[in-house]
Amino acid sequence: MSRKLLVTSALPYANGPIHIGHLVEYLQTDIWVRFQKAMGRTCLYLCADDTHGTPVMIRARKEGITPDQLIARVHAEHLKDFTGFGIQFDNYYTTHSEENRLLSEMIYARAKAKGSIVKKTVLQAYDEQEKMWLPDRYIKGTCPRCKAENQYGDSCDVCGSHYQTVELINPVSVISGQKPVMKESTHFFFRLSDYEAQLKTFYKEGYVQASVQNKLEEWFSAGLKDWDISRDGPYFGFKIPGEKDKYFYVWLDAPIGYMASCKNYCDRNGLVFEQVWNAGEYEIYHFIGKDIMYFHALFWPAVLMSADLRRPNKLFVHGFLTVNGQKMSKSKGTFIQASTYLNHLDPQYLRYYYASKLTGDVSDIDLNFEDFINRVNADLVGKLANLASRSGPMLCKKLDGMLGRLDDEGRRLISELTAARQEIVDSYESLNFAGAIRKIASLADVCNKYVEQHQPWATIKTDPEGTRTSLTAILNAMRILTIYLKPVLPEFAAKVEQFLAVGPLAFADVDKVLEDHKINDYIRLVERVEKEKVDAMIEESKPQDAPNAAEAPAVLDEPLAPECTIEDFMKVDLRVARVTKASAVEGADKLLSLELDLGAMKKNVFAGIAKAYKPEELVGRLVVCVANLKPRKMKFGLSEGMVCAAGPGGAEVFLLNVDSGAKPGQRVH
Ligand code: MSP
Ligand code: ZN
Repeated sequence: MSRKLLVTSALPYANGPIHIGHLVEYLQTDIWVRFQKAMGRTCLYLCADDTHGTPVMIRARKEGITPDQLIARVHAEHLKDFTGFGIQFDNYYTTHSEENRLLSEMIYARAKAKGSIVKKTVLQAYDEQEKMWLPDRYIKGTCPRCKAENQYGDSCDVCGSHYQTVELINPVSVISGQKPVMKESTHFFFRLSDYEAQLKTFYKEGYVQASVQNKLEEWFSAGLKDWDISRDGPYFGFKIPGEKDKYFYVWLDAPIGYMASCKNYCDRNGLVFEQVWNAGEYEIYHFIGKDIMYFHALFWPAVLMSADLRRPNKLFVHGFLTVNGQKMSKSKGTFIQASTYLNHLDPQYLRYYYASKLTGDVSDIDLNFEDFINRVNADLVGKLANLASRSGPMLCKKLDGMLGRLDDEGRRLISELTAARQEIVDSYESLNFAGAIRKIASLADVCNKYVEQHQPWATIKTDPEGTRTSLTAILNAMRILTIYLKPVLPEFAAKVEQFLAVGPLAFADVDKVLEDHKINDYIRLVERVEKEKVDAMIEESKPQDAPNAAEAPAVLDEPLAPECTIEDFMKVDLRVARVTKASAVEGADKLLSLELDLGAMKKNVFAGIAKAYKPEELVGRLVVCVANLKPRKMKFGLSEGMVCAAGPGGAEVFLLNVDSGAKPGQRVH
């Protein structure tokens, strides 16, 4: 009987957009799932948005919408991004669902019945102004060790030390800017240590990769601590049954969201959930990043044990993405959102590139843009797509699109390709996509050498039938390479299937040959990457910190700035100015470049108002300008002032109005 698999990726938080770091995981998983499907196996790829917790609640509040509205919008955005990258879920659900509530309550009840839930009193930071409890990340202050300012409540980014929130010097709530008070509250804890022995046996069955096993041993020797699974209201999440104003901590119900997504899928597709999840008919695999190992390697199996539920077969942990050798950075423009990437580049490039870097271990992977451009252009376009573009159009134009038969030499070429099948299958299966890609590229080299030797572009003039024979070999080779590449490049494969006039290709088709077969007109498979487009994508990802940035400042996230006196404020010299020129700024879609006439002088100013005003509607208009602002060099040139505008951001930014009788240069108060 063929295998059945149930595969998950971690559930992305519903408080922000998908970025190219996330995509390492979703592409890795999608490629593996597509591989399993191409092997003829039943494979369900399940995911969901992780919707609960304080950040979602705060973000919704900041946007002036309900958490339900926020998570509905983000769900659609996430799904659009994933679809744009060819990531195909069998179910993309949400943790804010009835299925998840019921499963979470059931699991909690079972853990409680086992005696694995204990009640304890804890001291916690509370924001009296906002009437809410503050998670560590919502408190900032001065590091008690190195005295660096503006550090989080639990650890310092500067010296790396960890501490208790009470130790922080001058703590403030990042929500209200007020000093939090420490208050007692009752919380519920899951006794992880109850499952220590059972967990150790479980790992022996091979739940984790070897390098993860080492990390686990560190955790075991440090001792398994009780885990706080409750939060006080107000909290966006599931209420704990039988308790007053207590909620399940988001990390309790998030992994249960895997099951809930499965239950929802089963209910809609006539499968029995208990059978699929619990009976062992399906193998269960989780893909995650190394930052959430603790939750998936320790808590999750222990929680399942407490509820006598079946445990997953394996946890696949991947490393983090670095860009040009460094952590993704907003200011460098390397914190690239999935949607920004899609504005500029073909998703197939990233699928190919990540595949060529992923080996199945926990080490970080680097996206180096120079290497990205070279590898995509040299291998994907130069070796693979070219093989088709050098043979398909010629067969169609000169030889009626009819494939002939393979000769001995052609058969030798094809058998060299088919012989690689097991190696490639094994590489995919073991998540060594880099190995698969390397092998496929080397096979493409062999095929290109065959093309060079046969020179169909020359022989077509003198020996059309001989040329048909060699084109038949090349296009059959292309077909096999396409099968091998299909998990990584589904769109490329679909185009090859279309022009070769064959049905959906799978690994079982490797042994077939296409002879005396009519093909369709050639379709271009993939274009070269242009460096300019990569640059434009990076530029669009940079914060556009114009003097009056159109981006709404994150009011609730930021403590108040230091006090500013009226004397400070009076230093600002505001003048009436007339806009004499206005134009868009290439590479900065939020900025306009303005030339201002202030009577006695002219100034060039970059203003972050491009989403709100068109250049042509500004020319001739009077505005208020901060005339004595120190000139500032920006990426695009010198900005010598600032125009006064305010609003929440984006299209909602409004220039101050000036009476039409006012004169440029006149002072404004
Ligand atoms: N919501 C939790 C997961 C709950 S699973 C029951 C979460 N969400 S996340 O949006 O922060 O991350 C989703 C996945 O993307 C995680 O596996 C995480 O490791 C991965 N990545 C997020 N940023 C990443 C990089 N920069 N590089 C590689 N993977 C990254 O964690
Ligand atoms: Zn410090």
